[in-house]
Amino acid sequence: MQSGSKILKFDVDKLRSQFPILTQKINGKPLVYFDNAATSQKPLSVLEKVYEYYTTINSNVHRGIHTLSEKATIEFETAREKSRKFLNAISIEEIIFTKGVTDGINLVAFSFGEKYINAGDEIVISEMEHHSNIVPWQMLCERKNAKLKVIPVNEKGELIIDEYKNLLSEKVKIVAVTHVSNSLGTINPVKEIIEIAHSRNIPVLLDGAQAAPHLKIDVQELDVDFYVISSHKFYGPTGSGVLYGKEKFLESMPPYQGGGEMIKSVSFSKTLYNELPYKFEAGTPNIAGAIGMGSAIDFIENLGYENISTYENELLHYATDKLNEIDGMRIIGTAKHKASVVSFIINGIHPYDTGSILDQLGIAVRTGYHCTQPLIDFYKLPGTVRASFAVYNTFEEIDRLIEGIHKVKKMIG
Ligand code: ALA
Repeated sequence: MQSGSKILKFDVDKLRSQFPILTQKINGKPLVYFDNAATSQKPLSVLEKVYEYYTTINSNVHRGIHTLSEKATIEFETAREKSRKFLNAISIEEIIFTKGVTDGINLVAFSFGEKYINAGDEIVISEMEHHSNIVPWQMLCERKNAKLKVIPVNEKGELIIDEYKNLLSEKVKIVAVTHVSNSLGTINPVKEIIEIAHSRNIPVLLDGAQAAPHLKIDVQELDVDFYVISSHKFYGPTGSGVLYGKEKFLESMPPYQGGGEMIKSVSFSKTLYNELPYKFEAGTPNIAGAIGMGSAIDFIENLGYENISTYENELLHYATDKLNEIDGMRIIGTAKHKASVVSFIINGIHPYDTGSILDQLGIAVRTGYHCTQPLIDFYKLPGTVRASFAVYNTFEEIDRLIEGIHKVKKMIG
């Protein structure tokens, strides 16, 4: 059992053995992978599932009557059912397979936008959004001559809820905010955000990219209207994800893309669209990605969210305390509720320099804007250094980070 943890319910060393990538040396040093908010590593169970798909049943889904196609279709639809249960959606009609969160938000911005947004309408997002939850809405606003309104954050990196309430005029047609900030780790009070919007009949989209690796998501309990996740953030393959949408919205929204699969019948005079969820799944989907994502869901469920978040919280608090002991350290994002992400800068040292030296020591962190330039601009910084922890990280790795930061300070501080 891993030393340091008081409550650990699983064996981290054993868990790490399922992630072969973690055993390698980078720049001659054992890899410390702290860039999990950018993408997580994948366990053997996921890799083997994808390999098995390609080596035994690779074929197209929903299209063939031959045995392989039927088997692939069953596996693909099993992954949809796993995703439904994972998010606790009511039905599989509400589970649209996507390329990931960016794709899911673009789908909603286009399709909801076509149906429900008119000139003069308003869309509310927040100052801590990832670019993928800003730009699609800006593009929609340009198309429809609508306006984007932004919920401000406070110095701790929390949304200012009173300001949010003030933004919700009758012109607002949708609210789109992140569940967990990728740059700061803030866990937003999304239930309250949804209740406030719903009391004014405004639907809400949540960006769950950074929530899915750490928190149990229950779309019914949240009563959220749209929820988007990316498989690669929670131990699954890249290029696959899910858009959850309430059936009443998905039914009423026009398709996002045209092509095969999303149609019932095609003629030059009139094309009829397919039923949900296929109406939104034009073209051959990422079959291996979806099946791999199903396996990543199994991986998370076997560990249990309670165990995951309890352990990750210990890592977060350990790292925060150790970082705070360093002279000249400033942690950016000190919200009361945080997931296992810690952003920081060291007085007088550019984040890129810190990141480059840490890389020489085998420690992978992200530096810069983290695709949240407006948020980093709010702090008037050139960027931050971000360490983001996953369930396979250890206290010893955090000690390596702390030692590394001392070296950075010695070299250029
Ligand atoms: N959204 C990813 C990150 O936070 C890429 O690093």
